[in-house]
Amino acid sequence: MALRTLLTEDRIQKRVAEIGAEIDRDYPDGNLYLICILKGACLFHADLARAIHRDAFFDFIGISSYGRGKTTSGQVQLTKDLDISIEDAHVLIVEDIVDSGVTLDYLTRLLKQRHPRSVEIAALLDKPERRLRPVAVRYVGFEIPDEFVVGYGLDYAERYRNLREVCVLEGEPDYN
Ligand code: PRP
Repeated sequence: MALRTLLTEDRIQKRVAEIGAEIDRDYPDGNLYLICILKGACLFHADLARAIHRDAFFDFIGISSYGRGKTTSGQVQLTKDLDISIEDAHVLIVEDIVDSGVTLDYLTRLLKQRHPRSVEIAALLDKPERRLRPVAVRYVGFEIPDEFVVGYGLDYAERYRNLREVCVLEGEPDYN
């Protein structure tokens, strides 16, 4: 398998800084909770949090729908719930990629049942042509074509998450 760079570290960091500034403008008051969807969003969450200059709370939620393969199974599993109550808080779900929309559709419904003040989504990557469920993403880093991408938190069979750039994974799988 080979890696082809799609988004350089520099492009990613510039865009993350822009989204952080937008969030600062959009949320002048009230508690802001940055909810990281494990595991893919961990690097975006860490960088976005530092690009936001107002106070923000962190929490983490585990959702899995992919397993080891390259496409969604359509089955969403909650693997770790939030530790904190989000009642009356502004919730910003931080996601690495919106593909079919199944994960975010499930998660936004779940969190809205807990009476937050607002629920919005920030996603680094968006593949609009893959959508099966409509999802309103307020902050999008980059719209990308329907290619399998890894890096900057995104994996293939748990590999490549620590790349600083986003790359297209080309060729046949090799599990070595
Ligand atoms: C990936 C990705 C998103 C989701 C997007 O998670 O991180 O959460 O799939 O796909 P969807 O829009 O089709 O639902 P994955 O289940 O691979 O877990 P991971 O973040 O731990 O890699």
